[in-house]
Amino acid sequence: MTDGLELVSPQHYGDGGYPHDTWTRLRQTDPVAWFEPQGYRGFWAITKHADICEVSKQPDRFLSAPRMTIVNEKFEAQAAGQPPLRTIVHMDPPEHRDYRKLASPWFTPRNLGSLEARLAESARSLVNKMMRGGGSQEGDFVTDVAAPHPLRLLAHLFGIPKEDEPFILKFTNEIFGGEDPEFKRASASGEDRVVIMGEVMKYFAELAADRRARPRDDLASVLANAEVGNAQIGDAELLSYFFVLLTAGHETTRNALSGGLLALIEHPDQLKKLQENPEMIDTATDEILRWTTPVIHFVRTATCDYELRGAKIRKGDSLALFYPSANRDEEVFEDPFEFRIDRDPNPHLAFGIGEHFCLGSKLARMEVRLLFEELVPRLEEIELLGPPDRLWSSLVGGVKHLPVRYQVRA
Ligand code: HEM
Repeated sequence: MTDGLELVSPQHYGDGGYPHDTWTRLRQTDPVAWFEPQGYRGFWAITKHADICEVSKQPDRFLSAPRMTIVNEKFEAQAAGQPPLRTIVHMDPPEHRDYRKLASPWFTPRNLGSLEARLAESARSLVNKMMRGGGSQEGDFVTDVAAPHPLRLLAHLFGIPKEDEPFILKFTNEIFGGEDPEFKRASASGEDRVVIMGEVMKYFAELAADRRARPRDDLASVLANAEVGNAQIGDAELLSYFFVLLTAGHETTRNALSGGLLALIEHPDQLKKLQENPEMIDTATDEILRWTTPVIHFVRTATCDYELRGAKIRKGDSLALFYPSANRDEEVFEDPFEFRIDRDPNPHLAFGIGEHFCLGSKLARMEVRLLFEELVPRLEEIELLGPPDRLWSSLVGGVKHLPVRYQVRA
């Protein structure tokens, strides 16, 4: 049996991908299991779909603020020395609702409708670029397509100039892949994260000052000039808001796109089916989200003793909600390990559920749909040139590089 390390160790995700065998075993034999891997504070691993729903829908009993993710104690000690992030992911009711509604109007279907043409154009230009001069080509789908597609849109929403996009991409990689050999900073001082966060917050503070002095028609201006309870939004909350939207908003989608293409390559019958039935793009999008489940876990802290599936949770205990496990739950999904683009219904939890349900879910769906709507019909052939290179992260799982050989038609 496991000591739980592979559920939370970034290196395990980088080396071995998602620990689906362990999650499957846990769902069957110990769905609410207590672990204390060496170097980590203990936590309950919640692996069943129904249990994640039960916990997530009780935000007063299970708080987000005290502990957001399971990281090792060394990392926790480093973070404790920094000014705390106060994103909406860290907040609990009633404060959470006041802050969430500052940005939520930007993510409604009506507002997103006006972005659809821009996203379709982004998809077209990226697929055209993949095609290059035509004929057989080779490339890295992550850096060529999956990373720029969502990043451009977010930069547009925030009114961030194109030349700053590489900076946003770099710090997102460094933060989510803090232990990844490719992304972590060279210094071994252990202060890397403090330095990175300092640079990021300086950039956001300048952005906030600019939008307060010269408001424009963008989301950065709306947030910078927002009020909560008749007072201007606090600096910590504002910079944290910029931080969460500008990182969560593209790292996750990037991994849904690269994981989605990988799934289609590994299931050629499903790729062919989608080429022959383009109207299946909506169910295919949800199946890609279920299959990839880019967010691995978030944590809740119990405010009272609670019995979950017979397990005695104590007040103050941490519960790690493993979304990819819920999305393979045999009690909810027929043949959960089959990738089927026409799966319907598909009640996956890739975006979480309840109080903190993903604010950007509609945008993410639209980004995935439009990219594959452009790419799939134009794909004449595609194959992997090597194994996918995975990110060392136990929060957002994904593919850093996906080397492919392909032919795309005009
Ligand atoms: C495939 C892409 C995405 C996935 C898989 C994803 C996943 C998630 C998950 C699982 C949560 C729940 C957190 C919790 O329960 O504690 C969440 C929350 C959130 N997501 Fe996403 N997300 C995606 C894309 C986006 C995008 C595009 C944006 C915005 C531009 C975004 C912004 C947020 C925000 C602000 C929250 C916090 C909501 C709250 O606390 O009320 N996400 N996301």
